[in-house]
Amino acid sequence: MANVVVVGSQWGDEGKGKIVDWLSERADVVVRFQGGHNAGHTLVVDGKVYKLSLLPSGVVREGKLSIIGNGVVFDPHAFVTEVGKLKDQGVEVTPDRLKIAENTALILSLHRELDGFREDAASNSGTKIGTTRRGIGPAYEDKVGRRAVRVMDLADLETLPLKVDRLLTHHNALRRGLGHPEATHEAIMAELTSVADRILPYMDRVWKVLDDRRKAGERILFEGAQGTLLDIDHGTYPFVTSSNTVAGQAAAGSGMGPGGVGYVLGITKAYTTRVGEGPFPTEQTNEIGEFLGTKGHEFGVVTGRKRRCGWFDAVLVRQAVAVNGIKGIALTKLDVLDGLPEIKVCTAYRLDGEVIDYLPASQGAQARVEPIYETLEGWSGTTAGARSWNDLPAQAVKYVRHIEELIGAPVALLSTSPERDDTILVTDPFQD
Ligand code: IMP
Repeated sequence: MANVVVVGSQWGDEGKGKIVDWLSERADVVVRFQGGHNAGHTLVVDGKVYKLSLLPSGVVREGKLSIIGNGVVFDPHAFVTEVGKLKDQGVEVTPDRLKIAENTALILSLHRELDGFREDAASNSGTKIGTTRRGIGPAYEDKVGRRAVRVMDLADLETLPLKVDRLLTHHNALRRGLGHPEATHEAIMAELTSVADRILPYMDRVWKVLDDRRKAGERILFEGAQGTLLDIDHGTYPFVTSSNTVAGQAAAGSGMGPGGVGYVLGITKAYTTRVGEGPFPTEQTNEIGEFLGTKGHEFGVVTGRKRRCGWFDAVLVRQAVAVNGIKGIALTKLDVLDGLPEIKVCTAYRLDGEVIDYLPASQGAQARVEPIYETLEGWSGTTAGARSWNDLPAQAVKYVRHIEELIGAPVALLSTSPERDDTILVTDPFQD
């Protein structure tokens, strides 16, 4: 039996919510290991719709332990709000159901503000990233800069003021530079002390909890957020998020040794989308892009922004298979392609007159690559709601088989609608 890591193999928004929910029913423990409340997962459980940003998907299911690992950046106020919303929907997120790693770095109001100040300033200079403005990047900067306030600091009111002062020295210099008023010690202290009692009951030594659960033979699901092309190292830098989104981070971001991480499932959309700025070789700023966006309901869960849409890019996903160690993919939203007379798939790029089969690392080269397409015949029947291969039009099966071949990984799950049961199971990741 394998523990399972779920990652996005494109730019996020591949439809992880449904697959993670499907898998979390089979798991005992569900762990978030990177990112923060920039993620947006929509879950439909027993007909009820839950929208989660920060909490692991396990929280909406009875009898599961959910974990926020140290690799996450944690906004305590967003947490309290999300827990409150779930309570209104009848879900009690109690400390026996959720653990937060004591060494998790906090997102404070000054991180959110700095994110916004910079994005506003960048709008005029053309260096905008298009972040979610949730403070994710600034919070990771402080973590790596060794000046973050962490969850455990909320329990130590003697040293907390010193930590806040240290943070303010750094932030106020930045704020002055950007022409914004300084943040005050009193305001930040009040912000922290007002939520400390709501957070501390959940705090735990997560590495130990996971070690115990793993030794007890429990099934652990690691729930990635964003996608491989948004990874701080492996993505389309600098148009990326500020964490490692790849599967390897599941270990470092939770405190479980890499040996405990088993099957890596890459969630893969049958076409490509991205939100925010940055290169997107197969983007279609035409009626095809409009068609995919409208039919696929391509709007961000967190920010409501319209997603950019384009053809399936096998070069990117093949690279994602390699850097994550993806064993199988969950292919989603195939039904969005239903009815298209022909479908294009990018199989390689042309860069400065040469044909290459990978995404180059440099920003300039990423902006210059031109996709080389293969054109496949579409299908007139519908794949929506199919529950077995026999229900699929022959041409749709051909499309799927061709993608498997191009990316070098098999389809483990095929999702044919947002409904939970509209899923064709080829390999159960937990049993592999
Ligand atoms: P940040 O994570 O808010 O710093 O934003 C950095 C980049 O990651 C921007 O392009 C965002 O649109 C993108 N991003 C962050 N979270 C998600 C997500 O959950 N889905 C898709 N894109 C995301």
